[in-house]
Amino acid sequence: MSELILSLKDIKKAYQMGEEKFLALKGVSFNLYQGEMVALMGPSGSGKSTLMNILGILDNPTEGDYLLRGENVSKLDEFDRAEIRNAYIGFVFQSFHLLPRLNLLENVEVPLTYAGYAPKVRRDRAFDMLEKVGLVDKWRNLPSQISGGQKQRVAVARALAMNPALLLADEPTGNLDTQTGDEIMGLFHVLNDEGVTVLIVTHEPEIAEQTKRSIRLRDGLLESDQKHEQRRPHVASQVSTHYIGSSQ
Ligand SMILES: Nc1ncnc2c1ncn2[C@@H]1O[C@H](COP(=O)(O)OP(=O)(O)OP(=O)(O)O)[C@@H](O)[C@H]1O
Ligand SMILES: [Mg+2]
Repeated sequence: MSELILSLKDIKKAYQMGEEKFLALKGVSFNLYQGEMVALMGPSGSGKSTLMNILGILDNPTEGDYLLRGENVSKLDEFDRAEIRNAYIGFVFQSFHLLPRLNLLENVEVPLTYAGYAPKVRRDRAFDMLEKVGLVDKWRNLPSQISGGQKQRVAVARALAMNPALLLADEPTGNLDTQTGDEIMGLFHVLNDEGVTVLIVTHEPEIAEQTKRSIRLRDGLLESDQKHEQRRPHVASQVSTHYIGSSQ
């Protein structure tokens, strides 16, 4: 049995709307294990982003417990949340969230700087990560000087810099064309093969089919949670071998 990475126990999240409380999550429970690749699906408004914010320790649940690597992280203050988030969780967003004035290498260094690593250590590590996503030759470029797919690869490199227990991706292919999206999925497959646990929010069945398990939310509740066959498009695996083997 793989190692338990996280456990959600009856997670509820209420948003205060004036006098009214709106319950966006009404009691969600599941476990994630090392090496899983999971799709989080559900209609608009079902609570996916709310759940991702809790999983990523950006926000605390109103009720329930979140155990990350056995530690209860559901009641931490902002300072401790930030520290644990940086150490254990990598984020990839639909709109990349790169810092526009920093070059690609400096962008990948950000979490390492925050964690207090020495300049040489973080530089070496950032170069390694850029190499992994096939962009080491462009390390001096600014985000504005690369394509959307390349930006997302830099975001993945940054997310991996701290060797996180969990990689969270909120619609990572949402702003990309199909082929570029497949390339990013190819990269996720390679990382997952290496043992990285990946959770992807997606509206696209084609993306969900490429994972090993699909969790579906509806109206703030877990509607279904199914393990299934993983369909890997041929093109994606070709692309990913290319990423690993070259630095183009
Ligand atoms: N800050 C907030 N204050 C009040 N209500 C909120 C807030 N954030 C989200 N909600 C409500 O909580 C519910 C869940 O929102 P959430 O953003 O988690 O949905 P989602 O599944 O990510 O949807 P989408 O697919 O459109 O991104 C929605 O009804 C939304 O209006
Ligand atoms: Mg959302």
